Amino acid sequence: MPYEFLTVDVADHIATVTVNRPDKLNALNGRVLEELDGVFTAIATDRTVRAVIVTGAGRAFVAGADIAEIAANDVAGLERLSAAGQAIFNRIERLSKPVIAAVNGFALGGGCELALACHFRVASEHAKLGLPEVKLGLIPGYGGTQRLPRLIGKSRALQLILTGEQVDAAEAHRIGLVDVVATAATLHEVARSLALQVIKNGPMAVARAIEAVNDGIDRLPEDAMALEARLFGSLGATRDMAEGTAAFLAKRPAQFTGE
Ligand code: COA
Repeated sequence: MPYEFLTVDVADHIATVTVNRPDKLNALNGRVLEELDGVFTAIATDRTVRAVIVTGAGRAFVAGADIAEIAANDVAGLERLSAAGQAIFNRIERLSKPVIAAVNGFALGGGCELALACHFRVASEHAKLGLPEVKLGLIPGYGGTQRLPRLIGKSRALQLILTGEQVDAAEAHRIGLVDVVATAATLHEVARSLALQVIKNGPMAVARAIEAVNDGIDRLPEDAMALEARLFGSLGATRDMAEGTAAFLAKRPAQFTGE
């Protein structure tokens, strides 16, 4: 499928999805969101893709939702926009393959929320992250008010959300908003090597681990543990588990098939 505002390259089973609207700092208009939805829907069932890196073209990762589009909305329109953006970012978070944000520059508002929906985040040392919506008379609407406190704690999240301040990569790393900081020159290689490290492992196990963390995090501990036990057990029916354990005992590398 040809995209107007995305480029998609697949190499070594890793799809790099680049938001490509650099003249507007990759701001997420309706079309970009639709295309992100389309690409992640396609990747979900594409067996040749085993990990995804999300990044931005030019000097920004994504500088937010498109403010010109937002400004044209009324109450019902804004609520619909928020629900639609949330659904797309939920799809990204729930992908059964690792999704890594390579934050190459500004990740503000919806851009920060896109990075938050990814499973982990690598940032270039020049990246700037933040949720500046209050400066526009808005609040984060693509999951930011929910994912940020779960990631960095309620108090720090409220500080970022209420001040609307941008933090640099070092500060984002210090507060747990990004996992790794790289130079601009090594950002993609660092993201790629993390992806390669994950895809060496059993794909069924990786998928179930993502599911256990995503679905367990908001449950009561007992329920979450029961979920973990069920998913742990379900791996007993997979070839990947048979192969992984047999390979260990035979002192040979495992050959996983994702079945
Ligand atoms: N929506 C729509 N357009 C955006 C945008 C957004 N979120 N962010 C940047 N742009 C556009 C600018 O309007 C400008 O377009 P123009 O050249 O047609 O005027 C272009 O991208 C370049 O941005 P500019 O502001 O000139 O770059 P800068 O280096 O001076 O500032 C930022 C960079 C990121 C600090 C600034 O663009 C900004 O504050 N953007 C909005 C961030 C935000 O509030 N996001 C949350 C949205 S809910």
